[in-house]
Amino acid sequence: MTSTHQHTPHHGDHGHRPGHDDHDGQHAHSDAGQAEILDLDAEVLAEHIASITGWLPLEREPRQIVDLGCGTGAGTFALLERFPDAHVTAVDTSAGHLQLLREKACARNLQDRVRTVQADLDRDDWPDLGAPDLVWASASMHHMAQPDRALTAVRELLAPDGLFAVVELAGFPRFLPAGAPESRPGLEERAHAATDSFHAEHVPHRGADWGPMLTAAGFTVEDERTISVDIDGARSEAIGRYAHGSLQRIRGVAAPALSPEDLAALDDLLDADSPNSLLHREDLAVRTERTVWAARRA
Ligand SMILES: C[S@@+](CC[C@H](N)C(=O)[O-])C[C@H]1O[C@@H](n2cnc3c(N)ncnc32)[C@H](O)[C@@H]1O
Repeated sequence: MTSTHQHTPHHGDHGHRPGHDDHDGQHAHSDAGQAEILDLDAEVLAEHIASITGWLPLEREPRQIVDLGCGTGAGTFALLERFPDAHVTAVDTSAGHLQLLREKACARNLQDRVRTVQADLDRDDWPDLGAPDLVWASASMHHMAQPDRALTAVRELLAPDGLFAVVELAGFPRFLPAGAPESRPGLEERAHAATDSFHAEHVPHRGADWGPMLTAAGFTVEDERTISVDIDGARSEAIGRYAHGSLQRIRGVAAPALSPEDLAALDDLLDADSPNSLLHREDLAVRTERTVWAARRA
């Protein structure tokens, strides 16, 4: 396995712009916290990610794949599994995420099929990423300061008949039923609503319609699909941790805009020792959506 490091002088914070969000919305205060959520997301949504890789309208099996904003490798490993002859170049700003991805690749004996590249895709000078026949970008394009520039760079990068798969989500998954918690029904929605202005400022492209943006960047959108996810979490320890990690991060942004009663109820959900803790509730589910756009150079 090879790894390439590109100097990113303005990213002293492990690859995030100050004030830039990480997993769909939170202030980038820790790569480690984000990594845990990305890993739980990959574990809980594995089947759904596999259904997306299986759906891609490819004309032939890709051999060279680039995973842009790969995080800890949710897409990278799903693609390596789906396409056994492919190599993946996994690109991210975060050295920590790339290190975790490399460790996983070694643990799974896939190190010869993965190359990691540390790069800031907001910069003009992208490193050499070859001429991939599949570029995959999951939950990463909305992080770009100027997505139109990144999309144009992908068009230039892609092999002439290659496919670009943009996978995006409208927001964080929801975990609690509407009537929960008993003391403050609807708390989860209010906590998310309390982060709206933060998201509008820091990730204005989250939840965007990428079809017209792809067309404007010189792609033809071949197909688009939205996958609805609704997983019963009653007996899943991973879903408890996923809900806990997600709402913990939401809390950081939402706290100032929540009523004292809501904040106290949120803290109760986040308290591992509380009987109401997200870590051992029986009423959790994972409800979210993923939309994928499959595009070719026009
Ligand atoms: C929400 S995570 C998604 C990770 C992964 N694709 C997945 O599906 O689990 C977004 C990723 O984009 C990366 N990222 C954000 N801005 C970036 C940039 N300018 N250049 C490269 N990577 C970036 C983050 O470090 C993070 O790993």
